[in-house]
Amino acid sequence: MTGSAASQAPASSGGGGTPARHVAIIMDGNGRWAKKRFLPRLAGHRQGMEAVRRTITAAGELGLEALTLYAFSSENWRRPAGEVADLMGLLRHYLRREIDALDRNNVRLRLIGEWRRFEPDLVEQLDAACRRLERNDGLTVALALNYGGQDELVRAARALAEEAKAGGLDPAAIDAQAIEDRLDTKGLPPLDLLIRTSGETRLSNFLLWQAAYAELLFTDTLWPDFDRAALERALECFGRRERRFGGL
Ligand code: FPP
Repeated sequence: MTGSAASQAPASSGGGGTPARHVAIIMDGNGRWAKKRFLPRLAGHRQGMEAVRRTITAAGELGLEALTLYAFSSENWRRPAGEVADLMGLLRHYLRREIDALDRNNVRLRLIGEWRRFEPDLVEQLDAACRRLERNDGLTVALALNYGGQDELVRAARALAEEAKAGGLDPAAIDAQAIEDRLDTKGLPPLDLLIRTSGETRLSNFLLWQAAYAELLFTDTLWPDFDRAALERALECFGRRERRFGGL
């Protein structure tokens, strides 16, 4: 162990000692977790919900500013209707059960994706949860619901085109910032670390723009087994990465 500044940087620091501010997770492996135990897939999703609870608590305690979780992708509609209904039911249950604890823990809730296309009662429940937590100033949890990275970029492009057509925007003035300002993640810190559980090594249409300079970490841990120790290990790994953002 040397006495260098880098060796004294906190576990969540990356390369030059900058702590991770924003972590995103592709929560994969619920089905395989259940299958290994000869249980229905819903049992895996239920344990996945417990992992969501543990991870949000740990992320707050570890000082992250934002945690973005891929809870339902725009492609998840392709699953059997029964499983889609189970996932919606779990989300309703999670919001009812966890809202007080989220509030006590000073968590703010953001939603990204086309979640307003969900059933009206669920949209109202999600809206109410955001309102209830809006004055908190601790960890921001961004739930990706009916989210797809390509869809998010299409919507941003459409918004820019509409503004240009209305005459309020010069197409030559469109730069990266103009696009970022029209993404669902507007206002969140830049993405530092993107984790995918369960051994798959794909982005699966998650945060395609935001991942441009994020560190990627793939772990074999199945999502229902993810916990505080797993998050700490991921942040330690992030701390050892050297981030150059295209420089030397
Ligand atoms: C991937 O596992 C997980 C999902 C499609 C949904 C994520 C849902 C949860 C973590 C539970 C509920 C969340 C909240 C916020 C209440 P998979 O089914 O694709 O697993 P497999 O690849 O092993 O089949």
